[in-house]
Amino acid sequence: MRRLTFAANWKMHLGPGEAREYIKAFLAGFRLPEGRDVWFFPPAISIEAVAQALASRPGFMVGAQDVHWEPKGAFTGAVSAPLAAAAGARGALVGHSERRHVFGETDAETAKKVAAVLAAGLFPVLCVGEMLAQRDAGETVTVVSRQLAAAVGALDSAALGKVTVAYEPVWAIGTGRNATPADAAAVHREIRAWLKARKAAETRILYGGSVNRKNAAELLAERELDGVLVGGASLDPAGWAELVRTGAA
Ligand code: PGA
Repeated sequence: MRRLTFAANWKMHLGPGEAREYIKAFLAGFRLPEGRDVWFFPPAISIEAVAQALASRPGFMVGAQDVHWEPKGAFTGAVSAPLAAAAGARGALVGHSERRHVFGETDAETAKKVAAVLAAGLFPVLCVGEMLAQRDAGETVTVVSRQLAAAVGALDSAALGKVTVAYEPVWAIGTGRNATPADAAAVHREIRAWLKARKAAETRILYGGSVNRKNAAELLAERELDGVLVGGASLDPAGWAELVRTGAA
């Protein structure tokens, strides 16, 4: 059976109290369809609240939106993978386009972060994706392959099997514009081929960028998509519950 992952990236929204209320509202009357996983990526300050509110329910997990590559030290303002784990995180996003393009994170840094996340026993969700000018120049596959090679190219297939890849075209994030299902699937196939060549054919590949309740069904109809990574449309618990149940009986 095809497993589907629904990942919510709350970005800089929902503090601990709001996060608790959100999870309570989300879970009220909610039945998780079989074969689906729901992952929450709240701000670091709310990881523990979400972990506690989820109370180890099967199929649910919480992760960090970003981590520093060092496990500890004098890095004011940063959160390490072991600190996120101590708060209840089981995974972490790495290389989200806002980290890359707003905070100037480099490919080399994504590699160090993936290694740090794995070393802490968490699973990384590596975000990759091209900018609009790169897509228009026909460079999508080159850019995505470069990001993959830099961040996870040095991993063996066992480590690579712990990674989830999220393909998020930068021009589709938070813009209301999204790739057509066929466009998304075409890039997913390239990523799948890249992973297969490294004996990691089972690695999950999620799609992200302006996914919402209206377009989720047609995106998920593409078998290449193992799920979605959702920002804006994950902030309302009722809307998110509906999105997670997309196409379920
Ligand atoms: P969006 O964000 O759904 O608001 O476009 C997706 C993401 O940044 O992961």
